[in-house]
Amino acid sequence: MTDRRTRYPGPIAEAGVHPHSLIAQGFAEDSALAALLDRYPAELFDINLYDYDDEGQVSLRTGARGRLDGGQLLEAIQQGRLWVNLRNVETGWPELWAAAMAEFRQVEAAYPGLKAVKNAGQLILSSPKARVPYHFDAAGVVLFHLRGRKRIFVYPGDEAHLPERNMEQVVARQTTEELPYTLAFEGDAQVVDLEPGQALTWPLYAPHRVENLDRFCVSLSMDFQTWPSRFRNGALYTNAVLRSRGGSPRQTDQMGQGELALRWAASLGLKRAGALKSRIAHFERQFEPEVGVMDGAGALKA
Ligand SMILES: [Fe+2]
Repeated sequence: MTDRRTRYPGPIAEAGVHPHSLIAQGFAEDSALAALLDRYPAELFDINLYDYDDEGQVSLRTGARGRLDGGQLLEAIQQGRLWVNLRNVETGWPELWAAAMAEFRQVEAAYPGLKAVKNAGQLILSSPKARVPYHFDAAGVVLFHLRGRKRIFVYPGDEAHLPERNMEQVVARQTTEELPYTLAFEGDAQVVDLEPGQALTWPLYAPHRVENLDRFCVSLSMDFQTWPSRFRNGALYTNAVLRSRGGSPRQTDQMGQGELALRWAASLGLKRAGALKSRIAHFERQFEPEVGVMDGAGALKA
């Protein structure tokens, strides 16, 4: 299949699966994960609990790290309905990161012309029934799956599924990474069931969502920037500023590399000048992980 599933140029035309060898190295075993959770800095945790209505619209509760030790926190995730994200794996778990970067180079080599200039990673530990809502990342992504089974739905990167106005808002941190979603999109998804030892990548910016398939899951989500993604993100930021001042900028998919580069350069100055303040709400924590309670979400302890 050679259909491009995105309106943006780039070497990755559709979602693709690649093998990796990170599980053979023991990174996803309970003992390694419990020790990691014990030592990981509390400020690098995101703990989310997602609920969905009949229309597939999401609501989010956020949790505090709480006081469970690593083994108990692991148990709460394995029993509950939690999504736990450990940011900055590149510094938080350098051994995993070094191994993952070696794997990344192989994925990169599978796409002639793909050249990452910056990589970052998050380790995601999620409950058997956790689901991640429809969103996009303003970066390339390689999702290294280490444990459990998950189903990834990847949608076309066209204006209907990925409106640029929403992309601008996300890139300019005026909202969290949420896009308008409707169940009617489901017929348009490329659906991939991911097994341990497989990594999935998809076209830059492609919207996606994830359903765990009744097993505790561990994945390393690696995001990367290329020069083209930097230019486009900068152009989206500049467009967000122009729009906030009453302009109606051209969409970036109408722009060539030269114009994207100019808008990226403009974005650097605009950011330095603080042209747009982040409007991302500081989430009030609503629970903390607990073993043996519904969803693994207990009351906050004072
Ligand atoms: Fe994502």
